[in-house]
Amino acid sequence: MRIKNLIIFGTRPEAIKMAPLVKEFLKYNHKFDTKVCITAQHREMLDQVLSFFEIIPDFDLNLMKPNQNLYSLTSEIINNLKPVLESFEPDYVFVHGDTTTTMAASIASFYSGAKICHVEAGLRTFDMTSPFPEEMNRSVTGVVANVHFSPTETSKQNLINENKNPNTILVTGNTVIDALLFSVDKVNNPKFKDQEIDDLKAILEADKKLILVTGHRRENHGQGFINICQALKQIALEQPEIQIIYPVHLNPNVQKPVYELLGGISNIKLIQPLSYPAFVWLMEKSYLILTDSGGVQEEAPGLGKPVLVMRDTTERPEAVDAGTVILVGTNTTEIINKTKQLLLQPDTYSNMSKLHNPYGNGKACSQIVEYILEHSKKLQ
Ligand code: UD1
Ligand code: UDP
Repeated sequence: MRIKNLIIFGTRPEAIKMAPLVKEFLKYNHKFDTKVCITAQHREMLDQVLSFFEIIPDFDLNLMKPNQNLYSLTSEIINNLKPVLESFEPDYVFVHGDTTTTMAASIASFYSGAKICHVEAGLRTFDMTSPFPEEMNRSVTGVVANVHFSPTETSKQNLINENKNPNTILVTGNTVIDALLFSVDKVNNPKFKDQEIDDLKAILEADKKLILVTGHRRENHGQGFINICQALKQIALEQPEIQIIYPVHLNPNVQKPVYELLGGISNIKLIQPLSYPAFVWLMEKSYLILTDSGGVQEEAPGLGKPVLVMRDTTERPEAVDAGTVILVGTNTTEIINKTKQLLLQPDTYSNMSKLHNPYGNGKACSQIVEYILEHSKKLQ
């Protein structure tokens, strides 16, 4: 009898970080019947990832609504997962990280009686308001999960401090590094052709330092984004010898202020969200990255790129401790000052652009599958 796995995800970062796990499980089709269910909490940004990793979901709940809210999204995910869980009856459900999909899918899977495996478990800021609602989402998932796959020793320790049984926690590294290494290989292969990368080459100026920006956090909506945009505008106007490129997240709460405040500035390029290989290519080409993203904080150190994190807290202290990531919050002056230091002080820049990888070695997914192979023997 094959063990039944259901891998559930819904947003761009979950898809990037679960894609290599889907691929790894599919190598063991003789042991596992693995199916993929997407909530499609994101639509276009999720489909970009599915297309690059060539994943065709078995179940597509197609739930995204324009400017959706947390109440209806949560309830829709739980309600729409019921028939999937009842018909497929998975032994194991895999959820990832800290989105509304993660939390709602964990609750639904708990009701179904499946064993819940949390990938990227144990990240904490210890502040329920930041990131919001992600700190709550991952804490709730941690409560119902049977197995916790933690990216680092720090995240494992966070779970032990919450009285989780250490035998249910495995440190694997972050699956994002599996995805990153796969993609870096592809992008650097001379035979790899990508229209988006060609389009980027056409708009970028080879002689100008490139600052890459991303942002979307809910707690930064409103004044936070206004501050960030004011900082970017001032940097761009004061330093015409640099160029800023910003693939703007599709959330209307991000699109509106960013296009209103930064449109029409010649050395700021506002573009659509990029597919994963084009974004990886752009990270490699950039001098410096300004972001509030979780995933980008994990990828950039592996590419040797300094990161200024436009948040007040981080659940990823490892790269901060190593000195390659700095928290700058959303204070306009602080963002400008730290960016200028990195542009104008070669020593500061070289100290921060160390290549290191505290988040994994690209073998997280094979470790997860090995663990489940061993663990599932008890079910057979
Ligand atoms: C979500 C997650 C956040 C994660 C982020 C990654 C929650 C509450 N938030 O935030 O943890 O870090 O994704 O990007 O789970 N939209 C589109 N097309 C898309 C994607 C989004 O149009 O492909 C627009 C829609 O109007 C949608 C809105 O963005 O309603 C917000 O999407 P949502 O997933 O609720 O929030 P994010 O800010 O993307
Ligand atoms: N990313 C991408 N295209 C973009 C911007 C980001 O593929 O235009 C990737 C990035 O490399 C990282 C992930 O998306 O792996 C991060 O997603 P996001 O910042 O939306 O979410 P978070 O990681 O903060 O949850």
